[in-house]
Amino acid sequence: MLHISQEDFEKLTTFIKKNYGLDLSEKKVLIESRLSNYIMDSGYCSFEEYLPTLYNDYMGNEIANLINRLTTNYTYFMREHKHYEHFVNVFLPYAEKNIRNHDICIWSAGCSFGNEPYNLQMCMDEYFGSKKYGWNLKILATDISYNALRAAKNGVYTEQSMERIPARWRAIYFKSLGSGLYQVNDSIRRQVEFRYHNLMDPIKFKKTFDLILCRNVMIYFDEETKSTLCKKFYKATNPDGYLYIGHAESAPEDMPYIKQEPAIYRKEAHG
Ligand SMILES: C[S@@+](CC[C@H](N)C(=O)[O-])C[C@H]1O[C@@H](n2cnc3c(N)ncnc32)[C@H](O)[C@@H]1O
Repeated sequence: MLHISQEDFEKLTTFIKKNYGLDLSEKKVLIESRLSNYIMDSGYCSFEEYLPTLYNDYMGNEIANLINRLTTNYTYFMREHKHYEHFVNVFLPYAEKNIRNHDICIWSAGCSFGNEPYNLQMCMDEYFGSKKYGWNLKILATDISYNALRAAKNGVYTEQSMERIPARWRAIYFKSLGSGLYQVNDSIRRQVEFRYHNLMDPIKFKKTFDLILCRNVMIYFDEETKSTLCKKFYKATNPDGYLYIGHAESAPEDMPYIKQEPAIYRKEAHG
């Protein structure tokens, strides 16, 4: 394994934190283990030799490769089931009653391999049944890892990541590809729009949202980064709209939303 000098490590972690929010200042071994093979396969002998290529990468390809390797994309279906219970029992009845133009705007921010937005689509499909045709239920799902976004668009999953999926859903929403692999049905896949978006950037989507999910993403951000991000989310949330964060994450001290339940926040009606 290649070793990174303290000076290079500090420069690299500062660069990553500034541009992507990820605080890897305690993760020297992780950086060395995840990048060593890649650096050697790319023809470099050391971090010292490789890093100038990264810092001078104006096209963004090298940075994208780095982010693919340094992000933690762990996810699975039905993760944090309390959110799905709230979604079906509280959010969707609220949305059905109050969203007059029948356009429910949901953003899965830090969607990784797509399990989260597909899971929400399955909930909505079951909830609305044949009424779904009268609604625009398309979900926006974003991430900074191009690898994760590519896999998410394919929507192919292993038996293992589907362990918590109810049997009835497996039958309706997945097709078997053989070899223990399953693909989410086209009708559900069509309802999720995957895009690259860095949460450090300004939020410039055409719509504002009734629900934003940013679960198990801010865990890698420091207090100031979380605070800035939650304020941006707040502006991008419709009055009465919700934010879900991961149950293991802490909200910033100056969280603008009102806490409803653990890891569930709401914007004031006139906020
Ligand atoms: C652990 S996964 C969480 C996936 C899903 N939300 C869940 O809870 O299962 C965290 C994701 O956040 C993404 N991420 C990290 N920093 C980001 C940033 N600055 N902008 C957008 N996505 C980011 C990572 O690429 C990764 O796919």
